[in-house]
Amino acid sequence: MKKLGVLISGGGTNLQAIIDNIENGNIRGRIELVVSNNKGAYGLIRAQRAGIDSLFINPKDFSSNQEYNLKLIQEFKARKVDLIVLAGYLKILSPDFIKEFRNRIINIHPSLIPSFSGDGYYGERVHRAVIQYGCKVSGATVHLVDEGTDTGPIILQECVKVDDEETVESLQRKVLEVEHKILVDAVRLFCEDRLSVEGRQVKIL
Ligand code: GRF
Repeated sequence: MKKLGVLISGGGTNLQAIIDNIENGNIRGRIELVVSNNKGAYGLIRAQRAGIDSLFINPKDFSSNQEYNLKLIQEFKARKVDLIVLAGYLKILSPDFIKEFRNRIINIHPSLIPSFSGDGYYGERVHRAVIQYGCKVSGATVHLVDEGTDTGPIILQECVKVDDEETVESLQRKVLEVEHKILVDAVRLFCEDRLSVEGRQVKIL
């Protein structure tokens, strides 16, 4: 049974999708710890409701992001997690963290990487840029996390149609639904040892 660690910063709907799919048996894994950098993250409530160990770790208590990440590493290693899931986590991971969990960190991004990804592209900004550009499709991407921002090998992607009258809110809703679906699929596949990383390519066995 794979052990999961989840990092959140906000509402935690992606976390909730994983919780629900563990409870219904779709994902054969167990969330050992949920950590938020934001005290008010509703995702902490979702974890507590599900009886999952959760921590608010305040970045202000640490002299640097590097020190903050050493604390994160310590907490997740203490629980022997196999996979780290970034579920709406908005802080940058340190090189120490990436190294410690090489090829075992996945992130969900609300666009079709490499479009509308990288520094400054998160949350509503992504959907606003997609609409302003006049794209006909958008979507979500689950990828492995490396030292770059949204640059790691892609695991799964799925498209959504961008309609003529699309708004940021309507597109965000469409994409969030797809995020939940492909994030759950990626976690399930990891738990079944069916992801094979070959350079930039991730093959599904
Ligand atoms: C979502 O907009 C998603 O695109 C990104 O983080 C945001 C919050 O997700 N990954 P969640 O509801 O906190 O899971």
